[in-house]
Amino acid sequence: MSKIKIYGGKYLSGTIKIHGSKNACLPIMCASLLNRGRATISNVPKIADVYNLLSIFSYLNVTYTFTDDVLVIDSSKLTYSDLLINEVLTFRASYYLIGIFLALFGKCKIYYPGGCKLGERPLDYHFDAFEAIGYNVNYNDNIIEIAGIPKNEHIDITLKGNSVGATINIVFATIFLNATIHNYSLEPEVIDTLDFLGKLGFKIIKNQNIEIFNSIPKRSVKYRIIPDRIEALTYVVMALLCGNIKLENVNLLHIDYPIRTLILNNADIIMYKNVMCCNKSKVIPFNFEADLYPKIPTDAQPLFSVLFLFNNGSAIIEDKIFKNRFSAPLELVHLGARVTAIENKIITNHSIFVSGSVRAFDLRACAALFLFAIASPTNTVINNYEIIERGYDDFLKNLKSLGVKYEIIE
Ligand code: EPZ
Repeated sequence: MSKIKIYGGKYLSGTIKIHGSKNACLPIMCASLLNRGRATISNVPKIADVYNLLSIFSYLNVTYTFTDDVLVIDSSKLTYSDLLINEVLTFRASYYLIGIFLALFGKCKIYYPGGCKLGERPLDYHFDAFEAIGYNVNYNDNIIEIAGIPKNEHIDITLKGNSVGATINIVFATIFLNATIHNYSLEPEVIDTLDFLGKLGFKIIKNQNIEIFNSIPKRSVKYRIIPDRIEALTYVVMALLCGNIKLENVNLLHIDYPIRTLILNNADIIMYKNVMCCNKSKVIPFNFEADLYPKIPTDAQPLFSVLFLFNNGSAIIEDKIFKNRFSAPLELVHLGARVTAIENKIITNHSIFVSGSVRAFDLRACAALFLFAIASPTNTVINNYEIIERGYDDFLKNLKSLGVKYEIIE
C-alpha cells in the first residue's frame, strides 16, 4: 500500500491553477465517441481516471493524442466489444459507456463499475430508465448485460431519483431517439456534458425537463471543460487552514453558495473574475447539509468537516447524498478528533491532535486527510494516499510549491 509522511503545521503560500473538472471530463470523453469522428477537448486533467478511460478507448480501437491539457480523440474506428476488462472496475464513470454503447450498438455487456466506496451505490435509476426505453437489463455475478430495441415512439422517462450518473447515462442512451427526461440533475458537470453534446450538433433543449431530438452529430468538435469546483474548494480549505493561496482558472458561479457560506462565517476570501485569494482564517464552524447543486456538494463535505476540527465551536453535518460519507473525520478520531456520529450525522468539535497514521478509503476522504495532515502541527502518515491521483492533477507538485514538507515512504 502507498504511504506518504507529511510534516504538518507549515505556513503555505503560492498560486495554484485549477484544472478541468474530472466529473465533467469523463462523460464528455465518452460522449466524444458518438460522432465516430474527431473531438478536441481542452482543460483535460492528467488524472488516473482519465488514463483508465483512455486505456478502455484503446481496447475499443479509439485513438488519441494527449498533449499538455489537450486531448484529441478519434473514434472513427470504434468497434463494439464486451467491456469485461479490469479498467472498468477502477472508476465509477466507466458506466457512461453503457449509455454510449446502447446509443451506438443497441447493447452493452460490462462489469459493474467500481469507484469510490461511499456506502451502497445502486444503479436502479439507470436500469429502470434503460427498461423504459425498451431494453432488457440483466445483472448477475457482477456483470451487467443490456440489449434490446428501443420503443418506436417518443420516449418519456422520469428518473426515479436525482442522479448525476443516471441523467447523463439516459441522455446518452436516448441521444439518437426523441425523448423527454424528467427529474434530471442540475449539477454543473451534467450541464457541461449537455453543452458538449449541443456543440457536437445534437439538438437538446433543457428547461424543466431535457428534450432530446434525434439528430446527426458533426464529424469534429472543439470544446473546453469547465474548471473543477471540488479541486478549487480543496485548495480554498487548504488556504483557510494553512496560509495564503491564490487560485486561478476558477468558475466562481459553480462554488458561489459554499464560498458565500464560508465568508459569512469569517473566511477571508476575495474573488475577482476567475481568480480567488484565500487567507488563513478562524472560520466559525456552521451546521450544514451537503446536498444538490447549488448547495455545499457532498464531495466537499469531508473537506469542510476537517476544516471545522481546527476551529473553535461545534457543528452538525449531514450528507443528504451519500448518508455515511464520514470516513475521513472518523478516521481522525484515534489522532484526537472530537467527532461523534449520530444517525447519519456527525458533530465536529475543536480538536488537538497527535502524530500517527491514517488510511484513505476514497478520493475526497483522501483529500480531506491531506488537508488534516498539512494543517496539524504533527507528523502524519497517510496510507493509500495514491487514491489522490484519481482526481487531482499535479497534487504533490502543488503541495511542494506551496511549501508542504512530505516524504513518500512506499
Ligand atoms: C457523481 O456520482 C460523482 N461521480 C460523485 O463524485 C458525486 O459525489 C456524486 O455524483 C454526487 O454529486 C462522478 O461524476 C463520476 P449520483 P454518481 O448518481 O453519479 C443514489 C468524486 O469524488 N443513486 O448523483 O454515482 C446514490 O446512491 C465522486 O468525484 C441511487 O440510489 O452519484 C446517491 O445516494 C464520488 N440509484 C444519490 O443517488 C441510482 O441508480 C446520488 O448519486 C443512482 C444513484
